[in-house]
Amino acid sequence: MDQGDTPRRFRDSECAEILRGLEAPQKRLPSKYFYDERGSELFDQICELPEYYVTRTERAIMQAHAAEMASVLGDDVRLIEFGSGSSVKTRLLLDRLDHAAYVPVDISGEHLHKTAQALSERYPALDIQPLVADFTAPLQLPEAGDAARRNAVYFPGSTLGNFEPAPAIALLRNIRALAGNRGGLLLGADLQKDIGELEAAYDDTAGVTAAFNLNLLTRLNREFGANFAVDAFRHQARYNSEHGRIEMHLVAQRAQDFTIFGQRFSMRAGETLHTENSYKYTLDSLAELARASGFETLRTWTDPAQRFAVQWWRSRSAAQRLAA
Ligand code: AVI
Repeated sequence: MDQGDTPRRFRDSECAEILRGLEAPQKRLPSKYFYDERGSELFDQICELPEYYVTRTERAIMQAHAAEMASVLGDDVRLIEFGSGSSVKTRLLLDRLDHAAYVPVDISGEHLHKTAQALSERYPALDIQPLVADFTAPLQLPEAGDAARRNAVYFPGSTLGNFEPAPAIALLRNIRALAGNRGGLLLGADLQKDIGELEAAYDDTAGVTAAFNLNLLTRLNREFGANFAVDAFRHQARYNSEHGRIEMHLVAQRAQDFTIFGQRFSMRAGETLHTENSYKYTLDSLAELARASGFETLRTWTDPAQRFAVQWWRSRSAAQRLAA
């Protein structure tokens, strides 16, 4: 990643996407730009915050039920992990799977190869096939090696919640295509809960989430040649009950102008840049998503307070879908 002072070369599609968002009546910025080096560090800190229940709740569910999850996946599985990062939660599954193959998929090649190296030392018998790719586009998997294996995608971390409903279904249908008729999806999804608890998770008292949100502007200034006055914005997290999602915004503290890609934009005091959605599901809305993308929900594991769910979705065959 370019961390220098000069703007990096950007693609026309990136430029068009950013400008389209800023020209909309509710100005938007794409949340994928959160994750430069600083943004990734801040996200790691968010995961350890007392208010951010998401990571530790999912980890506790995995720790409590990894054996059952592994038995649902089966020893002959090829586990394909979307956004594998350092594969920390996955180790709980890999510890319990014999003869499995593992395809960690991540956009960062450097991170991926380091992780694959560490895993191959810890699991010498595991067939590891790292894949550097953007999982939001259809993927070409490496040759399976063993045709008897079935594919299961592991998509933890509530990352699905950062997708709008239509792209979420498109992504899940891509996953269904990878899983084939014999496979499935092990999904980590965040559940709807008390609004106060949700808003606190995205607006912590230490200000880490605020720094994460504001870092987006710092990055656009550095890499895309924008000139946002970063200290003239304030972080805001609010629950939108109509859409069942937490929204993150950056609120202009005074009327101001900024320029990006040679185009000038004005903001009124109090106007916001909408930077992220994080959808929260119910068990019913997850079942509906599963059906809409060619799966059926076979197992659900939750914590006692039902904050978070890990689910096993099995592929439904075309025949099952027609018969339904
Ligand atoms: C990565 N993703 C699941 C996080 C979430 O909870 O939606 C991103 C995040 N944004 C602010 N805090 C965490």
